Amino acid sequence: MIEKIKEHLAEVEAFSSTNKEEIENFRIKYLGRNGLLTGFFAEFKNVPNDQKKDFGQVINALKNAAENKVNSLKEAIENSQESKTVYGDLSRPGQPVALGSRHPISIVKNRIIEIFSRIGFNVSEGPEIEDDWHNFTALNLPEYHPARDMQDTFFIQTNPDVLLRTHTSSVQVRYMENNKPPIRTISPGRVYRNEAISARSHCFFHQVEGLYVDKGVSFADLKQTLQYFTTEMFGKSKIRLRPSYFPFTEPSAEVDVYWGLETETDYKMTKGTGWLEIMGCGMVDPNVLKNCGIDPEIYSGFAFGMGIDRIALLLHQIPDIRMFSENDVRFLEQFKSVL
Ligand code: PHE
Repeated sequence: MIEKIKEHLAEVEAFSSTNKEEIENFRIKYLGRNGLLTGFFAEFKNVPNDQKKDFGQVINALKNAAENKVNSLKEAIENSQESKTVYGDLSRPGQPVALGSRHPISIVKNRIIEIFSRIGFNVSEGPEIEDDWHNFTALNLPEYHPARDMQDTFFIQTNPDVLLRTHTSSVQVRYMENNKPPIRTISPGRVYRNEAISARSHCFFHQVEGLYVDKGVSFADLKQTLQYFTTEMFGKSKIRLRPSYFPFTEPSAEVDVYWGLETETDYKMTKGTGWLEIMGCGMVDPNVLKNCGIDPEIYSGFAFGMGIDRIALLLHQIPDIRMFSENDVRFLEQFKSVL
């Protein structure tokens, strides 16, 4: 009998489990009301007197061993659950970090900045709320000049001297006022015009304007720079310049890039002509240089300006300019892979 109890003792000591149910079954088997220990204790009265002492010792040892085992296994489970709530399951694979995406306007803007920075242009910025001088007058548009009608302007309250800039040429004026030639700068930024909102035009959009002022800057330099830009930006080097008019440049031109007519999309983008109008440009009018404190007898310069939204619409085949400002994540998410 004593030998049998010793076998149980060994079994109890060897038992291990992390399963609550298994531990409970083990407890019932040994310590339950009808468990083995109850049986052994009942047996006690039948044991011959000279063996009672030894018998008593082993069943008490078995009882203590079983109780200790159950308690320590239960404790182990509780501890491991506690650590789970603090640290989680450390062996689980990690959650992928949700990557954000850049706004398509930023993507195009950054590309333009990067391309011009390679040929020595820095980036200049200025206020979106401008005064009349920097947005119009300094740019050769005096108060009653009819060209002011070209840009319907948002004026702030009733003060006609405070307005939302209609182009970032205002930044170029500020830059020329504060820096001496040689000047090579591009001015990206948001601009505002009082236009009806539709799929093609908005009351605010984004521009990058460029300015180069130095001794002996010629129209040939302008053309070469534009060609470099279109090659880097679109992979297209064939451009044409159509005579145009801007009050702040003379002569002025519109720049078209030859996109080609290979696919149906090319037809749509270029309205069947193969040519895509991408920007305005010209030689800085001597009056503008004078207005900004630069002597036009010594220096000359060229300037250009393009709409970022328009280029982003074309490059990504986006059907509606309003999508840029709606902040619909389903739209924005699609630019995740573009840097
Ligand atoms: N400022 C002109 C615009 O808003 C663009 C431009 C800039 C044209 C510089 C010529 C030279 O459309």
